This record gives sequence, C-alpha cells and structure tokens, in this order.
Amino acid sequence: DATDKGEFRHYMMKEIYEQPAVISACLEGRISHNKVLTSCFGANSDFLKEIDNVHIVACGTSYHAGMVAKYWIEDLANLPCTVEVASEYRYRKVAVPKNTLFLTLSQSGETADTLAALRKAKEQGYLTTLAICNVPSSTLVRESDLTLLTNAGAEIGVASTKAFTTQLTALLITAIAIADQKGQLSAEQQQNLVNSLRSLPAYIDEALKEDEYIKQVADRFANKHNALFLGRGPMFPIALEGSLKLKEISYIHAEAYPAGELKHGPLALVDEDMPIITMVPHNNMLDKLKSNLQEVAARGGELYVFADQDTELHNEPGVIFTKVPKVDEILEPIVHTIPLQLLSYHVAVVKGTDVDQPRNLAKSVTVE
Ligand code: G6P
Repeated sequence: DATDKGEFRHYMMKEIYEQPAVISACLEGRISHNKVLTSCFGANSDFLKEIDNVHIVACGTSYHAGMVAKYWIEDLANLPCTVEVASEYRYRKVAVPKNTLFLTLSQSGETADTLAALRKAKEQGYLTTLAICNVPSSTLVRESDLTLLTNAGAEIGVASTKAFTTQLTALLITAIAIADQKGQLSAEQQQNLVNSLRSLPAYIDEALKEDEYIKQVADRFANKHNALFLGRGPMFPIALEGSLKLKEISYIHAEAYPAGELKHGPLALVDEDMPIITMVPHNNMLDKLKSNLQEVAARGGELYVFADQDTELHNEPGVIFTKVPKVDEILEPIVHTIPLQLLSYHVAVVKGTDVDQPRNLAKSVTVE
C-alpha cells in the first residue's frame, strides 16, 4: 500500500528501499533471456527501425534521466540525441530533422510544461511521440502515440527516487531496442546488456547495504552550506541529480559540474568549507577523474568519493570513501544514484527538514 510508510519514518526512504522491487516490475515482460522485447512499445514496433534522431524533453529529475539516456542512445544505437527542459522547448522555434522520435519523460504525466511541449511537438512533424511515464491514466499517456510505463507504483515523497531509477531502466530498455532494430547490436552484445539489466535489482540491493555507513557520512555533511558535485560522461547527469536531491530536501546550496570543467570556474570556490562529491566511474575516464580529485585535494577541499573498490580509492585524510557495487559500465549511472539518494535523505534528517514535503516545492507542477 503506497500510503502506508511501514517501518520507515518517511515516504522517501520507503521509496528508496522499494527500488529493487520496482525495477524488477519495470523489467517484467520487457526482456526475454537474450533480447529486449519490442512488443513493450505496443503491437506495432516498426517505428524503431525508422528512427534517425531522438529528441528528449522533460523537467526536473525526469530531465536528468533524459540526459543519461543521451549517452546510451548515442553509444548503443549510434543515433544523435538531444535533451531539453520542456519549459525551454515549448517557447522556441525548433528545427526537427527527418525521422525524429519525440520522447517525453515524466513521473506524473501531468507536468504543465511537458504536456505543452508534447502538444507543440505534435505540430512539428516528428516520426512519433513516446512517453515514458509512471501514471497509466495520466494526460501525457493519453495524448502520446506510444507509452512505456515505468511501473514504479505511487511515489509520494516530493523528491523523486524510484521514479528516476525506473525511468533510467525504461530508457535503457528503449536504447537497446532502438540499437537492435537499427542493426547496431550483435546477438552477443544484446545478450550481455540483457544480463546486466537482469542483475540490476540485486545490485541496487547491494548498494542499499551502505545505508548505515552513509548515515555516518551525512553527519559530517550536515553543517555545510554549499556542496559541489562532479561527474564525467553519464555520471555528470547523476551528479546533477545528486545536487538537486540535496538542495531539494536539505536546503544546502549544491551545484554539479562535469569534472573537466573544474578549472573553468568552480575551482575558485574550493576551500576547506566546500565538500566535493564525486561519482567515480570505472572506465577510461578514471585516471582523468583522479587527477581532478588531486586538484581539489591540493586546495584543501574535503572529498566525498563514491566508487567501486577496484578503483583503488579509499579513506584517507581529506577523502571520505563510500563503496558502490562494481557493475557493468552501462549500469553505473543507475547504481550510483542510490548512495546519493541516501546521502541527501540522511543529511535532511539530521537538519530536521520536512523530508517528504520540502518547503516551496510540489510533487507535480501542473501550472506554469
Ligand atoms: C517537480 C517534482 C520533481 C519532478 C518534476 C518533474 O519538480 O518535485 O520531483 O522531477 O516535477 O515531474 P514529472 O512528474 O514530470 O516527472
């Protein structure tokens, strides 16, 4: 029952802990033992073969999910993908390349700007419109040509958690389906991706095991007034999402930067009062990111690194290390989201804010 907090003090925490189950629900019926099932897009999935471009439009946390999907779509399907906030899209003249999929992301399906963007898109000659949404009866679902439901169940906490990770799961399914239908994946590649997807709920479970540890990390964090989140590649949108979560519920001013931009401004802010939170990927960017971290350490900044153990990062003076499960690179953005949700939750609890109903914010922004 979504309205019952059960053993949890807040809906947000309950919803964080629901993620292994709802990600399973999101995968259910969408993958076979070796393939993504294109039938999840409806009876006629021919549109997948025709897509030459993808245009993603969304707001808030859903926009961050779209930013991650851009990396997946360009990487797996080799198709250009642009991502934009709906409040910008709706008021500008857009140039739409031939055979572009218009993809909206929304937990509620009622966000005013996203609905306005969809209505505008319908006049722009897109190939088709697809909504990835959590509410089957929503306006967005009714008005889109196609729908992929995220199946996260009702989300009550204003700060989105399980809606985000199920959106990412649905987006990865979509990226694999497009890549497959565009002839970009070998059978073996698709098999590996499907295996990764299937192991996702267990990895999320493992990430949740750091909860008690992250609670202690949060204690040292709660007296800060500012925070800087860094990430590279698909971990940059996760840095953005981590900073959004922190500012939404703990009211700590937080910003996110692609780590490579550090020297172009934010480094000027780094001193012993500025915690730096970094999502460390395990790929060929690891060394570059480590050198960014050294730049920060050299200026006395306190580093909070979230990384798997094989990165050989660890606790040391000035570095607070949090272990994240080692997973296939494609899953890293989803799995790394979990400790950031836990961090912002525990910081908010220490600060005594209204976690589920942060001041000035609404669950669904249905007016402009
Ligand atoms: C509000 C909520 C956010 C959400 C955003 C977009 O700002 O507080 O959590 O990400 O709206 O909502 P949607 O329902 O369209 O995903």
